[in-house]
Order: sequence, then structure tokens, then C-alpha cells
Amino acid sequence: MKAIAINEFGGRDKLQFMDLPVPEIKPGEILVKVKAAGVNPVAWKIREGYIKDLFPYQFPIILGWDAAGIVEQAGGEVTRFTEGDEIFAYCRKPLVHGGAYSEYIVLEEEHAAIKPKNTSFEEAASIPLAALTAYQSLFDAAKLQPGETVLIHAAAGGVGGFGVQLAKDRGATVWGTASGHSSEYVQDLGGDRVVDYPQVDFREAVRSEYPDGVDVVFDCVGGEVLQKSTDIVKKGGRLISIVDDPAGLDRADIHSDFVFVAPNSSQLAELAQMVEQGRLRTHLSQVFPFGLEEAQKAHELSESGRTRGKMVLVL
Ligand SMILES: NC(=O)c1ccc[n+]([C@@H]2O[C@H](COP(=O)([O-])OP(=O)(O)OC[C@H]3O[C@@H](n4cnc5c(N)ncnc54)[C@H](OP(=O)(O)O)[C@@H]3O)[C@@H](O)[C@H]2O)c1
Repeated sequence: MKAIAINEFGGRDKLQFMDLPVPEIKPGEILVKVKAAGVNPVAWKIREGYIKDLFPYQFPIILGWDAAGIVEQAGGEVTRFTEGDEIFAYCRKPLVHGGAYSEYIVLEEEHAAIKPKNTSFEEAASIPLAALTAYQSLFDAAKLQPGETVLIHAAAGGVGGFGVQLAKDRGATVWGTASGHSSEYVQDLGGDRVVDYPQVDFREAVRSEYPDGVDVVFDCVGGEVLQKSTDIVKKGGRLISIVDDPAGLDRADIHSDFVFVAPNSSQLAELAQMVEQGRLRTHLSQVFPFGLEEAQKAHELSESGRTRGKMVLVL
């Protein structure tokens, strides 16, 4: 099978088009013919070797943690899927090795859910990782309640865009940070207020309306943005980051947490239902054919940190 993989860590030139054996399934696993693979920042971070001390890995590493495709074979003990099912999946496994930039992928049941019926494979492949991250951050970690106010950093990005929609759907007032050119986009997703962060200090903007701070900050940027965010969370509020651990930050009177997204098929099924009900949608900024140059281009764009919505590779 054709796959885009690496045999050593490094720059985009380390990506290779490889011919690899189709992986074999064990009981409880499904073999999926991949129709589209989502592009997320984690792929270039893995490629660079940033995870090498965090997770076990084995070369060749096929990159890509988001997939949509068709179940080709279901192993014994598989209860939820059968051959021919159209699924989408967040594909992170204990061993970093067999990813979604590939004609086939083996997954455990827990990785996958039936794809929303009203989406293409391309659209479906762009949803799992980013939408699950937003879901687990806002609902599991921050326990966002109707009527609360949340500020979402990088609201025009992959995770932030789903975060805006999920928070709005929950009945929260949603503020987001984004460059001016993405302001309309974020409002269209449900943002009540967009702070043009290169022009306006988000702390001043928040304080002018909420002198005591907001209930929740969901940080998808990290670094200085996370640090500054401690100033604008109200007493008893929550500060959740998916980029840097807020543990050492100086606010004993708020709850802070780092979230690392976990596969969760029931949450993925709930997200699929929301898509089918028109309560959640994805925005594809780039759709690339499955080729080496195209994957390199997608990584280059992702590394810029300036893309809007999501990117996918189509097989
Ligand atoms: N811990 C986890 O489980 C987990 C899961 C998913 C992602 N992540 C990490 O979370 C981060 C975001 O992921 P993503 O997929 O959403 O990335 P992304 O789609 O690449 O985010 C791009 C967006 O970030 C915005 N942005 C950049 N700098 C900003 C700033 N200082 N303030 C506000 N917005 C800013 C850009 O907006 P403008 O163009 O308008 O500037 C752009 O729209 C990445 O570092 C990723 O690796 C972690």
C-alpha cells in the first residue's frame, strides 16, 4: 500500500512516499480503506521529533491521526462495525507507527464512529482530532455551563473553530481571538465577539466588559498567550490549555488544566450526530490530493500557524 511516512525525524524533506505492507488486524480491530486523512499540527511535530521522548515509536512512522474511510475487514470481537461501514476516526495509538496518510489503517473500535451521513469523506476526516479536543477541553475539563462566558484563543484555527461552535451550542457567550481578516469567519461560526489580537490587547478587551474576568479561557496558542490569560479568568474560573501546561502559573484561585485529547468513540458519535443535525460544521481551507509534494505543502502551511479551519489529503 502507498503511504506517506518518515524513516528519521527532521524537516519536510524527510517525508517519503513509501510502499508498505497492508497492516494485519487482531481481534477487536478493523482494517479501514482510507479515503481522506486530516492534517493537524501534531503531524509535523511528530515529523520533527518533538514527541520522541513522550511516546514510544517505531520507524517507518506513517503520519496522520485523522482518517475517514470504509471498513474493509472487521476482526473477531468487533461489535460496532461491519464491512462496508463508512467511518471517521481519531487514530492516536499507544505506539506511534501506523497513521492515516496511507491507503489502509488498522484501528481499534474505540478510535472510530460512523461518519456523519451529510458529509463527504474529506469533510469527515477533518473533524475527529480537532473536534474531540475542543469537546474534551470545554466539556470534560472546563465543564462549561449555559450562560457562562468563554474566551477561545486561536478561534479561527482547527480546534478553536470547533470550540466556538460547541461552546455556542452549549449556550455560552463566546469570545475568540483571531486576526482581523478572520473576524467574520469566527462570528459566522457563532462567536459573539472577536478580538483582533495583533491590534488589540485581549486582556484590555475582556476587562472592559468583564472587569472580574471570564468564566473560562480555552487556550489553543500557549506561551505568552497562556501566561497573560491568567489575568482574565475570574475567581473560581477555569483555564484550559492544549499547548502548554498551566500548572505552574500563579493563580491558586482558579482551576487550570492541560488537556491531551484521547480517542473516544461515543463522543465522536455525538459529534457526528451534531453534524447531521446542522449544529456543527467543518471548514476546509485546503484539500490536497495524496502526493508527496502536496503533503509537504500541507505541512508547510500547518507549520505557519496561520491556516483557517482544516486541511485534508484525499486518497
Ligand atoms: N493537547 C492536545 O490534545 C492538542 C490537540 C489538538 C491541537 N493541539 C495543539 O493546539 C494548537 C492549535 O491546534 P490547531 O489544530 O487549532 O492549530 P491551527 O489550525 O494550525 O491554528 C491556526 C490558527 O491559529 C491562530 N493563531 C496563531 N497565533 C495566534 C495568537 N497568538 N492568538 C490567536 N490566534 C492565533 C491563527 O489565527 P490567525 O491566522 O487569525 O492569526 C490560525 O487561524 C497547536 O499547537 C496544536 O499542536 C493540541
